[in-house]
Amino acid sequence: MSKILLLGSGELGKEFVIAAQRIGQTVIAVDSYENAPAMQVAHGFEIINMLDGAELDRIVAKHQPDFIVPEIEAIRTERFYDYEKQGITVVPSAKAANFTMNRKAIRDLAAKKLGLKTANYRYATSAEELEKAVLVVGIPCVVKPLMSSSGKGQSTIKSNEDIAKAWNYAVEGSRGDVVEVIVEAFVNFNSEITLLTVTQNNNLPTLFCAPIGHRQERGDYQESWQPANVTEEDIYEAQNMARKVTEALGGAGLFGVEFFLTNEGVYFSELSPRPHDTGMVTLAGTQNFNEFELHLRAILSLPIAEITLEKAGASAVILATANSNHPTYSGIEKIASLPKTDFRIFAKPTSRPYRRMGVTLVNATLETPIEDIVEKAKTAAKIVSVHS
Ligand SMILES: Nc1ncnc2c1ncn2[C@@H]1O[C@H](COP(=O)(O)OP(=O)(O)OP(=O)(O)O)[C@@H](O)[C@H]1O
Ligand SMILES: [Mg+2]
Repeated sequence: MSKILLLGSGELGKEFVIAAQRIGQTVIAVDSYENAPAMQVAHGFEIINMLDGAELDRIVAKHQPDFIVPEIEAIRTERFYDYEKQGITVVPSAKAANFTMNRKAIRDLAAKKLGLKTANYRYATSAEELEKAVLVVGIPCVVKPLMSSSGKGQSTIKSNEDIAKAWNYAVEGSRGDVVEVIVEAFVNFNSEITLLTVTQNNNLPTLFCAPIGHRQERGDYQESWQPANVTEEDIYEAQNMARKVTEALGGAGLFGVEFFLTNEGVYFSELSPRPHDTGMVTLAGTQNFNEFELHLRAILSLPIAEITLEKAGASAVILATANSNHPTYSGIEKIASLPKTDFRIFAKPTSRPYRRMGVTLVNATLETPIEDIVEKAKTAAKIVSVHS
C-alpha cells in the first residue's frame, strides 16, 4: 500500500481521496486552511502555505510519501524536481506540474516546441509592452496573468481604451511575485471541450475519455456534459495534440486537456495535469471509471484496459451568493427526489459569492439529447440554495 501526499484539498482532491481509500491507500491532505474538503476524508492533514518551499520540504520529510499528488497549481513546484531525485513519484511528473504552473512554459512548449495550433499570443511585463503586444495579436484579445487560475485577472480587450484596465486587472489577479501577462488573440469558438487523457506506465497505451463540453462564466465552469458533440475529424485532431503534449510532459496520470473548436479546426488552449473540474461530470456514472479513479489507477500503475462511455451525463455547479462561516443548504430533499439525479455538497467551511459549494449530476441513456440532460442538471442546481 502506498502513502500519498495530496497538495490541495478541494472538491477534486476529496473525490480523489475517496477513490484512494476504497482501494486501501493512505492519504495525507494538505491545504492552507483547516477542514478543507479532502481533509475531511483523509487519514491525516497538514496546513501550510504551499508556495513556501521550506514548508513543503518539511512536510515531505515528515511524511516520506511514495507519491506527491498536486491538486492545484499554486505550489512551489520548482521543489518537485528535488523530490523526484529523492525517489518520490511526483504526479504525473515534476515537469508536468512545474510547466503548467506558469502559462508561459506550457504555451511555449505546446506552440513552439510541439507545433500545436494555438491562438496567436505574446507576453508583456508592463502596460506599455501590453500595448505593443495588442498591436501584434489584434483586437479583440484576452489578457491573463501568467500565474493565475479560475479566470483570476483575466479580461478581454475590445478596444484600445481597455488596455490599461486589462493590465491593472491582471496585476491584481496575479499569484506570482513577478507580474507578467499573456495576451492571446480571441478565438471565436463554436464550443470548447476538455479531453481527459490518461497516460500509463509500463508502455501501456494512452487512453482518452469521450470529450466533455462545458460553458464558462467569470472564468469558472457552470455546466459540463459528456459526450460533447464533436466531429470525428476534430476528435482525431484533439487526441493527437493531447498525446503529444502529455508525452512531452511525462509521467502517468489523468490530464484535462482544453481545446477550442472552431470553423478553422481545433485549437489547443491549456491543460491540467490532474483531474479537471469539468470532469466532475464523470461522477454521474458516465464511464466505467470516473476521472478520479482513472487518475489513481494510472498513478499506481494499475493497468487500465479500456475506458468505456456507459451513459450520457451533465453536471451543473451549486454556487454560494454570500460570505459565511457556517453555510447551510436548502432544496436538497427536492433534488434528491428527482430521477437519475445525484449531487455532491463539498462541505467547504466558508462561503463567498460565486464560490463553488456543490454540484448536481444527471445521467441518461446515450440516445437522450445532451441539451436536455444539461437542462435537467441546471434546473436541479437552481433548486439548491446556499444560506449564510
Ligand atoms: N484566447 C481565447 N479566446 C476566447 N476565449 C478564451 C480565450 N482564452 C480563454 N478563453 C475563455 O476563458 C476561459 C478560461 O480561460 P483559461 O482556461 O485559459 O483560464 P484559467 O484561469 O486557466 O481557467 P481554469 O483554471 O478554470 O481552467 C476558457 O475556458 C474560455 O472560455
Ligand atoms: Mg482553463
